[in-house]
Amino acid sequence: MPGHRVALVTGAARGIGRAIVDALAADGFHIVALDLDFEGSDLVESGSLALVRYDLTDIAGIAALVASLGRIDVLINNAGVQPGLAIDDYTEAARERALAVNLKAPVELIRTVSQQMLERHRAHPSGAAGRIVNLTSVAAFMAHTDLWYGVTKAGIVSFTRSFAARLGPQGIQVNAVAPGPIDTDMLNKAAQPERRAELMQRVWSHRTGTPQELAEVVRWLAADAPVILNGAVIDVTDGCFLR
Ligand SMILES: NC(=O)c1ccc[n+]([C@@H]2O[C@H](COP(=O)([O-])OP(=O)(O)OC[C@H]3O[C@@H](n4cnc5c(N)ncnc54)[C@H](O)[C@@H]3O)[C@@H](O)[C@H]2O)c1
Repeated sequence: MPGHRVALVTGAARGIGRAIVDALAADGFHIVALDLDFEGSDLVESGSLALVRYDLTDIAGIAALVASLGRIDVLINNAGVQPGLAIDDYTEAARERALAVNLKAPVELIRTVSQQMLERHRAHPSGAAGRIVNLTSVAAFMAHTDLWYGVTKAGIVSFTRSFAARLGPQGIQVNAVAPGPIDTDMLNKAAQPERRAELMQRVWSHRTGTPQELAEVVRWLAADAPVILNGAVIDVTDGCFLR
């Protein structure tokens, strides 16, 4: 896709990722939309939109996948799972899946995608080499009834800062967004009802955020945020968490 900025969006079939695809496409990006499952998604492959079916629990395959995709200017680590389990109900499989999708896969994606961004920086040291946006959550900062989900989201804050420190001097921005409740399957079907109720008592607008509202923040980080915004976590919480 020469001449176009290319964004790789994970978890793109539905929810927040689906809205990010629209926001970036409207900004002129070509999109590589990655998901485990496109069933029921209205995304349609086109000259500017490639669909990639991939299960991000396959960490070992990520380097080869990224090598097969060509140029990537922007990486949006959006895919995530919330098992919605109390700690005593967690199975090893549920815990490993959350750790793989929410933590290991985005780290491996950043590690591999940033290699081509670093090559671009070496070739054009004054140009923008790439941008990375990670989806964390208010769960990173609050007590959470799904303990392992909270742990993974806190880990995303940690690796956002670590990668920003490593890659920022080479012209790569690595930032994160921490949403409150957003109207998606994850909130409405996966999250525990008590967690949803807790968040909804706190939000100021008395409603869930829309995926489109959140996608606009991600688009800004991916396309327009100044270079000095790096290693940041932008809270999009509607008041349910303040710091
Ligand atoms: N919805 C919220 O209230 C909320 C709040 C805070 C943070 N977040 C975060 O935002 C991100 C998106 O959440 P959402 O609400 O849109 O979730 P969602 O469950 O509606 O969509 C997640 C997408 O990720 C895909 N996915 C899951 N496992 C995958 C795997 N192994 N490989 C590839 N794709 C996989 C799913 O198929 C799905 O299309 C997540 O990281 C989530 O933790 C959501």
